[in-house]
Amino acid sequence: MTDFKIAPSILSADFAKLGDEVDKVLAAGADIVHFDVMDNHYVPNLTIGPLVCEALRKHGMTADIDVHMMVKPVDRIIPDFAKAGATYITFHPEGSEHIDRSLQLIREQGCKSGLVFNPSTPLSHLDYVLDKIDMILVMSVNPGFGGQSFIPAAMDKLRACRKIIDDSGFDICLEIDGGVKVDNIREIAEAGADTFVAGSGIFGNAQESDPNRYDTIIGQMRAALAKV
Ligand code: DX5
Ligand code: ZN
Repeated sequence: MTDFKIAPSILSADFAKLGDEVDKVLAAGADIVHFDVMDNHYVPNLTIGPLVCEALRKHGMTADIDVHMMVKPVDRIIPDFAKAGATYITFHPEGSEHIDRSLQLIREQGCKSGLVFNPSTPLSHLDYVLDKIDMILVMSVNPGFGGQSFIPAAMDKLRACRKIIDDSGFDICLEIDGGVKVDNIREIAEAGADTFVAGSGIFGNAQESDPNRYDTIIGQMRAALAKV
């Protein structure tokens, strides 16, 4: 049975209480923290950088941090995130002039590396670099904002990625990001994903008054995944 991982995107968390929010989703059973970095250049939004990643580590967070870089260019900032405690660093092929070099740089810095595919980005960027990749991230929305709807064509892309990974024999995670909710997570897993980013699906639905709000949603996601 696949070891499914749930990765809440802190983009939809309450930034004024970030340490507390992260503690709560992890206590509720989340596996990985998804950390969206936007530069107001590669995508039309501006979010958080290495200082916030480091602050979460200093807060005591030991879970994997999955840094999704929606940044161009990527190379200059990779070592900063490695020093700040990133576990995974993923980037978009469009954000790097030399994809192979950026992938190598991430591993040299002691992190796990990954490539991110926008809805219209072809998977051919995987050719020749599969041995340098620990994670493939399929975007099921266009990057830049939380709360968008899942783009159905991502299902076929997941199936194609699953075949590429299985045929390669490499140990590569297949992550999905954008519009993941309790009601579609099972179908997404059946298309081949093993790691599920959810921002508004976890933080957005929660009623502040419910002390177990994250346990409820993550529990529902786990129950849906158990049917795969
Ligand atoms: C979008 C980000 C996502 C975002 C997902 O550019 O990469 O990680 O937080 O948010 P939801 O789950 O709300 O679609
Ligand atoms: Zn993301």
